[in-house]
This record gives sequence, structure tokens and C-alpha cells, in this order.
Amino acid sequence: MSDTADDFRTAARAAAELVSDYLDAVPGRTVWQPMDPADRLALLDLPLPADGVPLEGLLEVIGSQLMTAPMGNGHPRFFGWVNSAPAPAGVLATLAAAAMNPSSAGGDHADVHLERAVVRWIAELVGFPHPAGGGILTSGTSMATILCLAAARNRAARRAGHDLRADGLAGLPPLVAYATAETHSCVRKAVELLGLGSRHLRTVATDAEGRLDPAALAEAVAADRAAGLLPFLAVASAGTVGTGVVDAFDPIADVCAAEGLWLHVDGAYGAFGVLDPAIADQYAGMDRADSLALDPHKWLGVPVDCGCALVRDTEELRGTFSLVPSYLRDEAAGALGWFSEYGMEQTRPFRSLKVWATIAHRGRAGLAADIARCTELARRLGALVEADPELELLAPVRTSIVAFRYLPADPALADAVNRELPVAVQLRGRAFVTGALLQGREMLRACLLNAATTEADLDLLLSEVRSAGRELTERPTGS
Ligand SMILES: Cc1ncc(COP(=O)(O)O)c(C=O)c1O
Repeated sequence: MSDTADDFRTAARAAAELVSDYLDAVPGRTVWQPMDPADRLALLDLPLPADGVPLEGLLEVIGSQLMTAPMGNGHPRFFGWVNSAPAPAGVLATLAAAAMNPSSAGGDHADVHLERAVVRWIAELVGFPHPAGGGILTSGTSMATILCLAAARNRAARRAGHDLRADGLAGLPPLVAYATAETHSCVRKAVELLGLGSRHLRTVATDAEGRLDPAALAEAVAADRAAGLLPFLAVASAGTVGTGVVDAFDPIADVCAAEGLWLHVDGAYGAFGVLDPAIADQYAGMDRADSLALDPHKWLGVPVDCGCALVRDTEELRGTFSLVPSYLRDEAAGALGWFSEYGMEQTRPFRSLKVWATIAHRGRAGLAADIARCTELARRLGALVEADPELELLAPVRTSIVAFRYLPADPALADAVNRELPVAVQLRGRAFVTGALLQGREMLRACLLNAATTEADLDLLLSEVRSAGRELTERPTGS
């Protein structure tokens, strides 16, 4: 290697070329392919280097062994799960954030103040009431949910005259939470982790579209109170992961207010949908939540990882997590204290820079246009599915998720074929879609998060689904 092989400036220029070439090539490449077994093994068996490799050599490995086998979520025909393409401004910011490498736990440095600003921006974007310091960036919504539910648990215990931080759960009646069958699994994980027991997470009935039924919530709360339990939390969704349905927040908030429940909204995927005037009315009442978890690393395209917990009364969050050992005392921190008083992380990454860059680059108007483009594409895809005799739309398109399935000639095969279809489509490499169960039925779900997706991409997705569906249906049994 040359003399400059370990020079940072030279390597950084080469890295910029490598990354730019990679991003330019994504739309023209196969969406995803399984890794070549030898390449996979080469990674798994990577020997610990005895001696260092110059920076230039590292770039060579990144380019030839890693960037050749991506997940596929930068591609305009990637419709899987809820994984977006990275916003270019966020990609750039990541390098600067690493160069500064602060711990955004607290103190008087730019990253800490920027985090307060971008949390406020996020709250402004989704219309959540935001007192200064009303939130915190997290690794994702799973972590944000843990923080919000911990605060809800703490408030319920305090109201019951119990010091949860000192005494734990022992001595409290069981705390009961309410959600629907459509609620993301991170809520159950949080409930289990917080020691509440998944048995005390009630599944509340929904309407035909999968929206939480407020009357059923009120009934379930009354039954649990009568049984001596302590209802404390209802979870509503601003975009379910299965079909993208948004719960009717106002009537749910009414029940929560009447019953003294903490209302938590899971807006991981869909909260930013409120930016699209065409669907904004569905979000009425979201601002009445006690807490809202959402993911800039989903619909905004902020490079992973970045979630956010917005909490109406942040003192609840601080009262749950604040623990300031003497070595961290900081008189200059001001009334808001350190971010590490509002969550679990002590050393915290500089997430706010990539959020700032992503939002600042597009502006509110640009983000709203991108989101509106996605919901428009989703409605178009829904209409194409409805018009196609080989396909069935399983739910109205409310945000940007399209839930549908392939209809084989023999309806008895529908579940078996649709169960295998996602992987069959993925392996063809031209489009990427994932599957899920919807009310016991196997389905495909296409999640539109990429404003660069075209109408032709939608046609291609459906043609891939039809071709793979026919292949699976016509395949000799047992093969
Ligand atoms: C509706 C919903 N809630 C929660 C989550 C979990 O978020 P994260 O993966 O950021 O932890 C997801 C992830 O897809 C989601 O779609």
C-alpha cells in the first residue's frame, strides 16, 4: 500500500467516493440476495487481526465484503417491515458525529443543546405539546416504550401511595395495561421487562379495521377494578405495524382521563403520517397522549438508530430515572438536568446530529411532501391490488402500509402459499416484501417509506407477487 494508506484525509475522501458510488448504484442493483455461503463464512470466521490494517485497507474490506451484501432497504422496491432508505443528509452527519464523539448525557456542549432542539422539532412536526425538555432520543421505539411505560408505572405506584423505586412492585396490587392484538410486540416486551407480567396486558377488542374499541376498553377497566386490580395504562397506535391503522385517539383519551390511565401512543412507524394533509384527520387527539414513542429512523429516513420518547410531563420521566451520583453532579446543567436523568443510557451517542441534518435538509415542507408521496403510492398500490383478480386487499389503506394476499385458484392453498410468498419474492431479487398474520390469515404487507419509489416499481412488485404465487401454486406437491 502507498505512503498515504493510513492518512485520514486521504481515506476520508476515498470513503466519500465509496459511499457515493454505493448509494448511486443501489436503485440499479438486485434488491436483496442471500449471501454467498463462502462470503458469509468468511465474515463469521474473521480472524482477530494480530496487526493493524491501514485505513485504506479497511475501506477495501468494507467495499468488497460488506457493501456487496446489504439488507436492501435503500432500494426503491424494498417494501419490507418498516425499514427506510437512509436520508443522505443523515449519512453525512454520521461521520461528523463520530468525529466529535461526545457523550450526549449532559453538560454544556453543542450536541446536548442540539438534542433539546431536535426533540422539540420532532414534537412540533407531529403536534405534540412540548414543554422545554419534553423528550429524549433513544435507540428506537422499543427503548422509548420501556422509558414511557416505566414512567407510567411509577406514576401509578405513586398515586397508590407506593414508593416503587425503593420498594419495587411487592405490596402493590397487579398493575394492568390495555392494548389490542394489533399492538407492536415491543409493548409486551416492555410490560414483561418492567415486571408487570404479560398476563396483566389485556387484549382489548377492536373494530373491523383493527382500531381499539374505547367502549371495550372502559368495560375491561371496570372489570379489573372490580377484581381489585390496578388499571394504569392504555396503549394506542398511530399506525399499526400490520396494516398501518391509526386508532381513534379522542374517545380513547376520554376513557383514560375518566379512569386515570396513562395514555401511551406507539407512533413508531406512523406518527409522522400526520404531516400529510390527506390523512391528518385520523390523528385527531394524538396530542392528548401522556407519552408518544416514535421513530425518526423509520419514515423520516434518519440512519439507524434513532427513536424518540415524547412525554407530556417530563418530570414523570425524570422522577423515574434520575439518579445523580456525586461524580456526575453538574451545577451548570440548569433546571432540566442531564439527559441521562430521563432514561437508561449514561453514555449516549450524538444521535441529534443526523436528526437535525435530515430535518434541516428537507425542511417541514419537504418531509411532508415525501410522506404524502408515500401515502399516495400506497393508495395506488391498494387500488391496483383491488383491481387484480389474482390478489385480495385485506384492509383499507389508511397510511402507507398495504395488506394484501395472493389468491391461488384453490382457496384451500391460500394460507400455505401466502406464507411462502414473501421469501419467494425476496429470492427473485427484484422486489422485497414481507409477510405477517392478520386475524389468523397469512398475508403480504408492503410498507411504502421511500418517496423515490415509482408507479412502475409498484407494477413490478405486483408482477413479482403474481409470478411467484403461480410458481408456488403450480409446483408439484411435496417439493
Ligand atoms: C408500530 C411499531 N412499534 C414499535 C416498533 C419497534 O420499533 P424499534 O424497532 O425502533 O424498536 C416498530 C418497528 O417496526 C413498529 O412498527
